[in-house]
Amino acid sequence: MGHSTTIDPTTCGAWRRLDEHAATCSDLVIGSLLHQDRDFLRLHHAGVGFDFSRQRVDSETFQALMDLAVEAGVEDHRDAMFEGAAINTTEGRSVLHVALRSAPTSTLEVDGVDVIADVHRVLDAMSDFADSVRDGRHRGATGRSITDVVNIGIGGSDLGPAMAYRALRAYRSPGITCHFVSNVDPADLAEVLDTVDPETTLFIIASKTFTTQETMANAQAARHWLVEALGADAVPAHFVAVSTALDAVAKFGIDSTNVFGFWDWVGGRYSMTSAVGLSTMIAIGPDNYRSMLDGFAAMDEHFRTAPAPRNVPIVMGMLAIWNRNFLDIPTTAVLPYSHHLGRFPAYLQQLTMESNGKSVRRDGAAVSYRTGGIYWGEPGTNGQHSFYQLLHQGTDDVASDIIVAAKPDPGSDDDARHRHDMLVANALAQASVLACGITEDEVRAAGTPDGLVPHKVMAGNHPVSVILLDTLTPFTLGLLIAAYEHSVFVQGAVWQINPFDQWGVELGKKVASGILDDLASGRFDDPNLDAATLNTLEEVLRLQASGD
Ligand code: F6P
Repeated sequence: MGHSTTIDPTTCGAWRRLDEHAATCSDLVIGSLLHQDRDFLRLHHAGVGFDFSRQRVDSETFQALMDLAVEAGVEDHRDAMFEGAAINTTEGRSVLHVALRSAPTSTLEVDGVDVIADVHRVLDAMSDFADSVRDGRHRGATGRSITDVVNIGIGGSDLGPAMAYRALRAYRSPGITCHFVSNVDPADLAEVLDTVDPETTLFIIASKTFTTQETMANAQAARHWLVEALGADAVPAHFVAVSTALDAVAKFGIDSTNVFGFWDWVGGRYSMTSAVGLSTMIAIGPDNYRSMLDGFAAMDEHFRTAPAPRNVPIVMGMLAIWNRNFLDIPTTAVLPYSHHLGRFPAYLQQLTMESNGKSVRRDGAAVSYRTGGIYWGEPGTNGQHSFYQLLHQGTDDVASDIIVAAKPDPGSDDDARHRHDMLVANALAQASVLACGITEDEVRAAGTPDGLVPHKVMAGNHPVSVILLDTLTPFTLGLLIAAYEHSVFVQGAVWQINPFDQWGVELGKKVASGILDDLASGRFDDPNLDAATLNTLEEVLRLQASGD
């Protein structure tokens, strides 16, 4: 199976050179490297700076990484994606999230259909609908305008919109509040329903497949809540759907005129610029939404055309390969110095780990090297008072991505500007300390008592990337996300894996549905379950039988 031939990347000449280089790279000390010319590691695109100068690489490493990208066929694979080839081989699909942000004047045919025209038809329909909700033309069943939008979805049908809603707070229009319900835990929906009025609430049921257990259960519960309050005739005015599965939506009872479609060539975690972004568009308006798409498109075009050594996603992805495969760094902390980007680490977790958490190559052969790293994080400065101690003095090496905007939100007063400066100062300070640390001599020279000296030494030499935005806008947010999307692509291409399937999540769903049946029937001898699960199940059943 497969459109492009897979290779074992460890057999590439550049991989071997990198291996040898890593074995002898104890002289790669970031603090010293920073005295050399590092301009080749400082990239900019469309006003956003990607500063990789605090990575543990010299020009030789960099050249070998660029060579590896060539030998592993990164650019050919990228071109195949942009041309609509079915590079999602295990699902036999094209991978065309980039088409979602293409200009209406471009064309791209997949199976004889111009997907760009389709994309813009849906975008226009979304814009009309978003405007009608925002200006009060779309009304609830009792004639009142919409004040609350509840997006019900999970994974890629939740994380992107929820992250963007928080990120773009400064661009939201007053009068409409969005809520995001994802967890099947009844507490999630209940918490939202407690605060909204059925007469003025619009539900967006977002699910690519329209089969996801959590989303379907929450959607049914929301429907029930609305019908109890306003009757079944109210449903069309209060429910819209976003999906590729139009039949399943119809079965659920949502009118076809209230469905915003997308296509199987959009992966769930790459779908925030499809109709899955409807809540974002309602919140910030179609013009701002299109500006976000322009930010994505600017990075798409850069990724497609810029020469590899100046190509942000290629450099970012290849440095991630260096850290993961040659410096043995298993994890990257995502540290946005931005309250608005508070959900960005959660969003990136799905993007990176659902994409590249794979152990077989596209051709099914087991990999003999590490693949997808672990991404996690918290906004700064909060994380500094929590886990940074381990980043600085723990026994594991962790790479960090620090994201910060030079300017505060527009309209900030002097006090807010000062606190924003405090934020920026902390971001830069942490980048410096992680990369450069402090030596024993320096600690001593500061007059530290002997007994405390070893406790205060910080090895530093932890790789850090600093992404500097002018300010967080729809455009810069789009650009930032697309840089990560394509960096993930580059890593997957080198590893020869398919970042666009997610077979690893299927078994858990199947087992959960069996256990759900067991819970309903009170059965604790299910032969499909292992002994530990049976034990816990029996305990759960006993506790449930003991009453509230
Ligand atoms: O967790 C698996 C997954 O399929 C994700 O890839 C996806 O984003 C999420 O579930 C939700 O899927 P859907 O949009 O089909 O409800």
